[in-house]
Amino acid sequence: MAHHARAKAHTNIALSKYWGKRDNELILPMNGSLSLTLDAFHTTTEVRFIEERGSDTVLLNEQPLDDSATAKVSRFLDRVRALKGVDWRAEVHSHNQVPTGAGLASSSSAFAALAGAASRALGLELDERALSILARKGSGSASRSIFGGFALWQAGEDDLSSYAYPLQSPLYDDIAMLVVVINAAHKPVTSREGMRRTVDTSPYYSAWVKDAEQRLGEMKHAVTHGDFTRMGELAEMSAMRMHASMLAAEPPFCYWESGSLQVMQIVRELRAQGCQCYFTMDAGPNVKIITRNSELAVLKRALAATVDEQALLTARPGPGLLVENC
Ligand code: DP6
Repeated sequence: MAHHARAKAHTNIALSKYWGKRDNELILPMNGSLSLTLDAFHTTTEVRFIEERGSDTVLLNEQPLDDSATAKVSRFLDRVRALKGVDWRAEVHSHNQVPTGAGLASSSSAFAALAGAASRALGLELDERALSILARKGSGSASRSIFGGFALWQAGEDDLSSYAYPLQSPLYDDIAMLVVVINAAHKPVTSREGMRRTVDTSPYYSAWVKDAEQRLGEMKHAVTHGDFTRMGELAEMSAMRMHASMLAAEPPFCYWESGSLQVMQIVRELRAQGCQCYFTMDAGPNVKIITRNSELAVLKRALAATVDEQALLTARPGPGLLVENC
C-alpha cells in the first residue's frame, strides 16, 4: 500500500499579530491572532512513508535541507507518526512558490502543507481543526494557513483548544496586499528567537499581551462587519506595538531598515491624501501594504519613484489547504 500524499498551502500575513509563546514545545501562543491567507505565495509538499526505520530525507526546491532544519521537520513528523503508531521513515519533497528573492519563504505555508501531506500519507482522516492543531506544532502561524481568506487563531488554554478557524468577511472580494520587498536576505534574528527574547526580557511584553487580546476582538468585529478603515487602523497598530515590544528587549533588536521606514512614510502620506492603505510588517524588513483593489494603481504609481518594479508583489486572498493522494 502506498503511503504517499501531496498538499498545497498558501502563506498568510497576520493583521493582528502573534508574538510570544507560553509553551514552546506545543507552540501555545500568549495571544490570539488574525490573518489573511494570500494567493501569491504557496508551498507544495509531497510526503512518502517507507515501511522501515531510518532517517527522514527532506528536499526543499530539490536541495537537501541542512541538519538543523531537517531535525525540525523530523520532530514534526514524529508527532504525525505517533498519531498513527508507526515508526516509518519519510521522504519529503517540498517546493516553495515564492517569487525568487522575495524573502517571503514562510513557515506558515510550509508546515500547513507538511501537516496535510504527512497526515494523509498515513491515512489519518484529520478534520480542519485537527489539521490546524497539528500544523501549529510545526510553526504557530501555520495553524492559520489551513484556511483560505481570513482566519482567527484563538490562543486557547491547551493543545486542543488552540486552533484557527475561518472568518467570513464582506472585505474578501475587495482587499489586496502589496508586498514591498526591501531586502530579501536572511533575517538576523529568527521569529522564534525574537519571540523568546521579547517574552523573557521586554518590560513592554505584558502590555503587548493585554492589548493584543483586547484589539483582537475589535479586529474580528471590523473584519466580519466589513469595516475596512478600522481593520486597517488596527492592523497597523498591531504591527507597531509588536515591534515596540522588541525594541525594549535585552539585547534590543529591530527588523526595520531605512527602506522600510521610507515605505511606511509613503503609506501615511498617501492615506492623508485619501488613499485607503495601511502597512504591516513581520519579522523582517519587508512592508506589506493592506489596501483595496481600486487603490492598487495609485499605490504602484506612488511607489515607483522609490521602489523597483520587481520589488512589488501584488496578492489577493488565497485558498485554504488542498490535500490529495498520490
Ligand atoms: C511576526 O509562526 O514563524 O509573522 O511559531 O516560532 O514558528 P513560530 O513562529 P512564526 O511567527 C510568526 C510571527 C509573525 C506574526 C504572525 O504571523 O502572527
